[in-house]
Amino acid sequence: MPPVAAYDAHADWYEEYVRGKAAPYTRRSGDLLADLLGPGQGTCLDLCCGTGVRAEPLRALGWTPLGADISRGQLRHATARMPVAAADAAALPVATASLPAVVCALAHTDLPDYAAVLREVARVLRPGGRFVHVGVHPCFVGAFADWSDRPRVLVDERYADRSYTTRAWDPSGVRARVGAWHVPLADLLNAVTGAGLRLTRTAESSPAGVADVFGLLALKPA
Ligand SMILES: C[S@@+](CC[C@H](N)C(=O)[O-])C[C@H]1O[C@@H](n2cnc3c(N)ncnc32)[C@H](O)[C@@H]1O
Repeated sequence: MPPVAAYDAHADWYEEYVRGKAAPYTRRSGDLLADLLGPGQGTCLDLCCGTGVRAEPLRALGWTPLGADISRGQLRHATARMPVAAADAAALPVATASLPAVVCALAHTDLPDYAAVLREVARVLRPGGRFVHVGVHPCFVGAFADWSDRPRVLVDERYADRSYTTRAWDPSGVRARVGAWHVPLADLLNAVTGAGLRLTRTAESSPAGVADVFGLLALKPA
């Protein structure tokens, strides 16, 4: 399936959303990302960088952020925050084995084939390089989950449905606006190991009890 710049139509809204209403979530997912990635030096590719909200936190860790995203609308905002490239995450204009770090935040549900993207991540990473994934929790966030009656979260049988949908319990969020694919937990972890990356650490973050963010650190074998 050819990549679609679905966020072009929503870029100004997204920029305001991640820094406004969703700012606590942006911060919390960013804290998880920073904890998994850790400090370092050299270029860190911010894959599917959106409007560039991860640039400053990456700099604070010592990394030099470089953004890549398919949406030129999103990149219009990101370009003020870091150097960027318009690129498909599954076909990066980046040399093989050239990068010490790659991060991908809140984007796996925007990609029809995350396994292919992770193979591309493995290609561009140097031996020993770090990959950090942070995304909506595969078990508790999706079209199959209803958070409207918290602290109870209702998960139903649609967990098995991997197809793209705009169905969402919250009509004001990204999912209802742009839509999302679902990647079950086992698919996600198998995509990491299947790309030849070594799963090193996993982590969860929750607003209260049930985790809504899942992250992992994987290394390219030296
Ligand atoms: C929910 S946003 C996340 C943005 C940012 N990482 C953040 O944490 O706010 C998902 C991003 O993935 C990008 N994206 C979707 N498909 C892509 C593809 N095939 N290649 C590169 N970027 C893509 C979208 O344009 C969008 O900016």
